[in-house]
Amino acid sequence: MLEIQNLTKVYGKLTAVDDLSLRLDGGGIMGFIGPNGAGKTTTIRVVATLLKPTSGTAFVDGIDVVLHPEEIRPLIGYMPDFFGLYDNVKVWEYLDFFAAAYRIPKSKRRSTIDDVLELTDLAGKWDSFVSELSRGMQQRLCLAKTLLHDPKLLLLDEPASGLDPRARIEIKELLKELGNMGKTILISSHILPELADFCNKVAIIEQGKLVVSGDVEEIMEQCRGGVVLKIGLIDRHEEAILFLQGLETVGEVKTENGLVAASYTGKPGEQHSVLEALATNGFKVKSFVEAEVDLEDIFLKVTRGAVA
Ligand SMILES: Nc1ncnc2c1ncn2[C@@H]1O[C@H](COP(=O)(O)OP(=O)(O)OP(=O)(O)O)[C@@H](O)[C@H]1O
Ligand SMILES: [Mg+2]
Repeated sequence: MLEIQNLTKVYGKLTAVDDLSLRLDGGGIMGFIGPNGAGKTTTIRVVATLLKPTSGTAFVDGIDVVLHPEEIRPLIGYMPDFFGLYDNVKVWEYLDFFAAAYRIPKSKRRSTIDDVLELTDLAGKWDSFVSELSRGMQQRLCLAKTLLHDPKLLLLDEPASGLDPRARIEIKELLKELGNMGKTILISSHILPELADFCNKVAIIEQGKLVVSGDVEEIMEQCRGGVVLKIGLIDRHEEAILFLQGLETVGEVKTENGLVAASYTGKPGEQHSVLEALATNGFKVKSFVEAEVDLEDIFLKVTRGAVA
């Protein structure tokens, strides 16, 4: 559905995107992750046909975005990171305007608008002024606008930025639903854990270069060894540390906020053997938790490698 090929974008002396290649099959949901200035927006804007690359190109559904931008536009829904607002415009007027711009026939506009309002949970707001909606609702309205022409590929540039935790969850649920509807989605963020549970692919970029891309699970797997067991003990901390260091399935051990943090290097799913060993040797364990490896950890690990 989306294939980015050797994409490079140079602004003056700065190479914002550097020979980036990326592939996303139909129905995939890819988290496009990188720190500020990594080149996410630049990449997305090239795919959205709003920016000409310096070299390289991208294909949407096999069509070249540089050569045939007008054929690309019906296929994509682009949600920018910042969007302007209109004073004195009502929700339905806003959507009707864009529906007309997308050349949706007048006879179909009403039902299309109802559908996207329903989907974005704004049905009750159709007659409200856009400027009077909360930030979270405005963000959902922008997404509704993006969905009017039923695009196959959604390009969402930080759709949850600036939202409170509740509004974030709402956007997340909505994106999950779009994924279930079979849309292909490229979604950028630097708030990593947020993407973990509904993306099936991830691409990490830094300084315009691709650091890693692939299935979320595969990348998690590559970063194994990052499982840390956090163990709370009633007493004998120092002894426990020495004991743990002697175990074959444990690597580095340190103290963290009164807990013993032991990196687990044994077989996946057999962490309980460490707990058993402690209990058998008379250590009084009051808590035993596996610190989850989330996308944030992966990100830090992978990019640290790249920078080094
Ligand atoms: N129009 C422009 N002219 C000059 N430099 C630009 C322009 N747009 C972006 N840049 C630079 O290109 C680099 C990549 O910017 P980009 O906006 O693509 O990053 P980003 O990954 O989206 O960052 P953020 O997470 O902050 O949104 C940055 O160093 C930025 O300053
Ligand atoms: Mg950006």
